[in-house]
Parts: sequence; structure tokens; C-alpha cells
Amino acid sequence: MRIQELQSQFAIPGAVEFEPGQGGLTRMAITTSECAAHIYTHGAHVTHWQRHGEAPVLFMSSQSQFKDGAPIRGGVPVCFPWFGGSGPAGAPIHGVARLAEWEVESVTLKSDGTVVAVFLLNANERALAPWPQRFELRHRVTVGRSLTMALEARNTDPKPQRITEALHTYFLVDDVRQIRVLGLENASYIDTAGGGRVERRQGAEPITITAETDRVYLNNRATCVIEVPNFGRKIVIEKSGSDSTVVWNPWIAKAKAMPDFGDDEWPRMICVETANAHGNAITLAPGASHVMEARIRLET
Ligand code: BG6
Repeated sequence: MRIQELQSQFAIPGAVEFEPGQGGLTRMAITTSECAAHIYTHGAHVTHWQRHGEAPVLFMSSQSQFKDGAPIRGGVPVCFPWFGGSGPAGAPIHGVARLAEWEVESVTLKSDGTVVAVFLLNANERALAPWPQRFELRHRVTVGRSLTMALEARNTDPKPQRITEALHTYFLVDDVRQIRVLGLENASYIDTAGGGRVERRQGAEPITITAETDRVYLNNRATCVIEVPNFGRKIVIEKSGSDSTVVWNPWIAKAKAMPDFGDDEWPRMICVETANAHGNAITLAPGASHVMEARIRLET
């Protein structure tokens, strides 16, 4: 749908506008009494959420692409219907949802001042290649004093469907070497840093980042807290419908190897991803649906 059509159908004066974003891609700009946010229809991708008077919460790479068929680097990529390299042979990692153009289904300004925007990826009548099965995916984003994202997947295929997924959230930090991630103490994880796959167990201490970090914590529903001392804040990530948490920082060499990520940007971000990955794949019977939700708030 063109920007003018979205504007006439869904804009809310003073709260929600549609505008050309970076690369000319369409974005929804939200302003509430508490915060500002941007969501692109490309990937239903939240790229910005910032409470008034405070630092942004989401990291965006200055080198990100903004074009059809390419993922946006930063914000919250929606990884679906597969996480990582578990898709069809030869398919790109992290699924088709972050590469696709989504429809806007509804936008609502609630009486408490929050804005709820629902995006729809309709792969109902025909599958979205190279994924062979049909589905309907809704991304419900609630923007206000906190940021809530609920990804609802419905299997519209005649056969059962096995999916993996992530809300691949990039958080802005001042220096990743100074932060701590709490909530995953004593948990087991798959360490995929450097392309390996080794099972390990987290010690009793919170996570600190001292090297390339790429971990999938399975069977884990814990709330995570990122302490960002130099911003004087804690980022709290609560979740439901998610049995995996992914923690990722590319560190120096991998940052250099990624063309859409600045060589010096790795200290400024940490991904703590709400996911169902690897052995936490979900099998949806025909007609069945599943909701995975991440609720992000700040404590100062
Ligand atoms: C993380 C994975 O979730 O995403 C990493 O655990 C991967 O292995 C990272 O490198 C970024 O993926 P992409 O496709 O956005 O470069």
C-alpha cells in the first residue's frame, strides 16, 4: 500500500504518521506522551523506540541497508519461519519475514495513550518461497512507556508445520564490555561463537561480554535484565511463549566481516533475543497458532 493510502487509512493526528524512511522505505512514525518509535513495513521492523528525554533503547547500525530483499541491521528483525541456518537448503539465515513487505492491519490509540500497531504477513493463499508451507503471521507492537511485541503465527497449511523464530532485538549500550546481562545464571546453552556448536553451562555470575558471544539458551523462560551502568539504567526483557533466549555480540573480527555493520559499532550493541530456536522449535497443527511475546521496559 502506498504511503498516501496508509496515511488516509491509518494515520492518527498527533500520534501516528506514515512517511518515507531511510532508502525511501515506508515507515510508521509514532509519537506518544511517553516516547517516539519508528516501524518499517519492510519486515514489520521496529527500528526506534525512545522515551522522551532518554537515550534510545534500540541500536541501529549506521551501515544498515534499507532496501527490498535485504534485512535491516539493528532494531528488532523478525526472524520467521526459521531461526539461523535451519531453513531450506541454500536459503538465507533467519527466515523470510524480515525480508518481506508486510501489510498494516490496524492502528489504535488506546485510552492510556499507548499506540497498538498490527502488521500482517499473509502467506495464506500461497507459500513465501523458499519456505514451502503457508502461514499467516501477525506482529502486534504496543508502543508507550514500555515496548511490547507479540508475534502470532497461524498455520494455514493443510500439513503440520515446524517453525523456529526470534525477535532479534538489538539494544543500544555505551560499551558492551561494561554491561552485565542477568537472568541466565546457571543455565545451559549452545555456544555457536566462531561457527561452532558446543554445549556449555553458564556459571553463577551474570553474563559479561569479553569476546565474540553467540549463545542460544534453550528451555529458558527467564526474564533478562541488561545493566547499562553508564546510561544509569536497566533494560528489563520479560517474555512469554518463548523457550529460548539468544545472546549475541559479534566482537571485532565478525563486525569487520559484516558489510552492513560498522567496524567500530560492536561495543555499542548487545542482542538479547526472545526466541524459539533449535530444539525449541514449535510444531503447529493445521489451523493452530502460537504467540511469542517480548515486553521491554526500563528501570533507572
Ligand atoms: C544471531 C545469531 O541471532 O544473529 C548469529 O546467533 C548471527 O549467529 C546474528 O550472526 C546476525 O545474523 P544476521 O543474518 O542478521 O547477520
